[in-house]
Amino acid sequence: MSKRIPAVVFGATGYVGGELLRFIATHPSIGLAAAVSASSPGTRIAQVFPTLAGSFPRAEFRSADRALEEIADGDRLAVFSAAPHGASAPLVANLLERAEARGIEARVVDSSADFRYRDSASFEAVYGHAHPAPRLLADFACAIPEHSPDVPAKHIGHPGCFATASLLAAVPIFATGLIEADVFIAGITGSSGSGRSAGAGTHHPERHSNLYAYQPLAHRHRPEIEALIRAATGQAADVQFVPHSGPFVRGIYVTLHARLRKSIGTRELSAHFRDYYRNSRFVQVLDRPPRIKDVAASNNCHLSVTAERQHAVVMCAIDNLVKGAAGGAVQWMNRLWGLPEDSGLGAPAPAWI
Ligand SMILES: NC(=O)c1ccc[n+]([C@@H]2O[C@H](COP(=O)([O-])OP(=O)(O)OC[C@H]3O[C@@H](n4cnc5c(N)ncnc54)[C@H](OP(=O)(O)O)[C@@H]3O)[C@@H](O)[C@H]2O)c1
Repeated sequence: MSKRIPAVVFGATGYVGGELLRFIATHPSIGLAAAVSASSPGTRIAQVFPTLAGSFPRAEFRSADRALEEIADGDRLAVFSAAPHGASAPLVANLLERAEARGIEARVVDSSADFRYRDSASFEAVYGHAHPAPRLLADFACAIPEHSPDVPAKHIGHPGCFATASLLAAVPIFATGLIEADVFIAGITGSSGSGRSAGAGTHHPERHSNLYAYQPLAHRHRPEIEALIRAATGQAADVQFVPHSGPFVRGIYVTLHARLRKSIGTRELSAHFRDYYRNSRFVQVLDRPPRIKDVAASNNCHLSVTAERQHAVVMCAIDNLVKGAAGGAVQWMNRLWGLPEDSGLGAPAPAWI
């Protein structure tokens, strides 16, 4: 690889945006061209993210209209969007149009919900407004890399963090053919899942030493999880999902329950999961239940299973900001450009954070 692929990051002052900048800072084949901010153009990256002062000592956030300034005509371009849903699609559409006019070959990975649906009607049914760039939908596919051996489209809409953890737990068990459509999933997320803006749900006194469910059986990502189970396994899924807010910053912990068609032991089910993920660099199937600190800040997913008589439990821990967003996005971008899938993502979890 001669020169690093220039990258543009939208929503770059946010939590996912900051994680994207962190991974790009050490990526061997992708380099930062523009960290785009709608609210803070001209502010130094290091001012918003002091942890990145050594990586980007002078670089500043830019407005979207300056995103392509350092990209040569005919060059390649890696576009990451970590803007909110509804805002992301217009930013991406405008950039792609300008890139195309200059012969720049672009690939996009979007962490928002804007490109997770195949058609605008499905998007509108869940998000309550018309899709901002419907013509682009045909160029996008939504999947997590572990469940998509081939690159499914030119651009990727990355599933959300709860969906990523749920799918990593659910898809192999659907692939056994041993369960009917129903699965029950309880998921607990850290406070960074709500993004940078403070709110009642993320305020420290509310969140610290606390644990509570929200939107039981009514979370908006449920249809996305069901659609992606079907896409990965061909099986209909009926997901009963109860999300919870947990008293930690990073991480998602998902526990899935399923009724099996026949009795199976833990060892057999565990062997199935190991086999399913045998080529997946970032998924480790453990012999004991996973723990969030063992994956936090890494792109790894820890899974374990227990089966007794006709009941199976799958537990999954990931970092919501990494495997559930920025790390998953870099993983996809690596694949979109034919780079090694783990480029820039190899670091294990630091554990004591
Ligand atoms: N947090 C997670 O665990 C997680 C996991 C998976 C997916 N996601 C998705 O990733 C995206 C970013 O999440 P986040 O947690 O990083 O959110 P965040 O901390 O709130 O950051 C979002 C950033 O987007 C920019 N933004 C806000 N409103 C905008 C607008 N109207 N137009 C353009 N830019 C706007 C802001 O940066 P500027 O003002 O500087 O542009 C803001 O810092 C969201 O779509 C979210 O659903 C988040």
